[in-house]
Amino acid sequence: MPAQGGQLPEHTQVADVVVIGGGVIGLSIGWRAAQRGMRVVVLERGRAGGGTSHHAAGMLAPVAEVVPAEEPLLDLGLRSARLYPSFAAEVAGAAGVDGIGYTRCGTLLVARDADEAEALERELALRLRLGLEVQRLLPSEARRREPGLAPALRLALEVPDDHAIDPRALTAALAAALRSAGGELREHCEASELTLAGGAVDGVALADGSSLRAGRVVIAAGAWSEQIGGVPERARVPVRPVKGQIMRLHDPAGSGLLRRVIRMGPSYITPRGDGRYVIGATSEERGFDRTVTAGAAFELLRDASELVPGVLELVLDELSAGLRPGTPDNLPAIGPSAVPGLHWAAGHRRGGILLAPATAEMVLAALAGDGPPAHAKPFAPERFARLDSAGPGGSGSASGIEGARA
Ligand code: GLY
Repeated sequence: MPAQGGQLPEHTQVADVVVIGGGVIGLSIGWRAAQRGMRVVVLERGRAGGGTSHHAAGMLAPVAEVVPAEEPLLDLGLRSARLYPSFAAEVAGAAGVDGIGYTRCGTLLVARDADEAEALERELALRLRLGLEVQRLLPSEARRREPGLAPALRLALEVPDDHAIDPRALTAALAAALRSAGGELREHCEASELTLAGGAVDGVALADGSSLRAGRVVIAAGAWSEQIGGVPERARVPVRPVKGQIMRLHDPAGSGLLRRVIRMGPSYITPRGDGRYVIGATSEERGFDRTVTAGAAFELLRDASELVPGVLELVLDELSAGLRPGTPDNLPAIGPSAVPGLHWAAGHRRGGILLAPATAEMVLAALAGDGPPAHAKPFAPERFARLDSAGPGGSGSASGIEGARA
């Protein structure tokens, strides 16, 4: 049975903050909290960085990925992109590594035919209306900048400030940075249930039967965030998995094929700058299924090779599937919940790698007791609040009233 306050059961340890989830979001929060002198434990049910972060391409693309009516996400993405140069340098320094694959490569959005070119003109107009940095390129100019592009190109947009990072190098460095700042990372350690005392967070019960006592818990478990038990209805965030199949390749001849990220609609080719490439990604609503399919491999390669024929010469290293964490309104849930001590940092969908520095900044402000910054409001977890089925006096104090108000 999980602890419900009162006596500390055997195997209970005390921390200031427990972060559930050792992906890029959870590790960033844990590292920043440890830097602030908090006693931090990050729990990861598998290997740190081995979940969705392991599959991500690592595009830092707030401008390329802007969607009408999601301006708060654009603002957060731009903020996080601005944080990235110092964030990446600081993580690498703290981890004692030379670099973590942060490349200021820029991005090209491209169109192959008249319909796609028309759609790209609309994308251009949207970005210009939002005051974003983007340049229209004739096919000849696009091909001069990226000779690997196919002659069939119809139109391109240069987005000079959308860059990329290697998420695997980033999560490995974050794990080292967390430990060197005094934080604890427990891999292969599954959180089963949040524990409450008097309506506030008291800690976490672990699947191995032990528990951790902490006054603040951050749920950063990506697509698996809803599987943490014990969260009162009024503090829950609906998160569902959105499957993305993605392919990794390398060029034995070196890094010459592409310099920029190339994007066509939701498809992309991301160069690592060292001859490695990532081609993504499908977007599938298939629950927690993570099988990889021949059809996805075919579609990814067909689209990529129509744009950059040279990809067919690359060596195929890996086809894998990650699960993006999606929320009903497509915005992440970041910050404190209706239950004192429970914080959310989940639901980043396509943007977890990009949004990690800004998410950590926002969560740290809340953990440190500072008021929420003005830009946090659209991401407040309370927007999903539901009535607590246990009602007042149930698992979460006067939850019915708070839930109705939220
Ligand atoms: N961020 C790219 C993707 O989710 O496929």
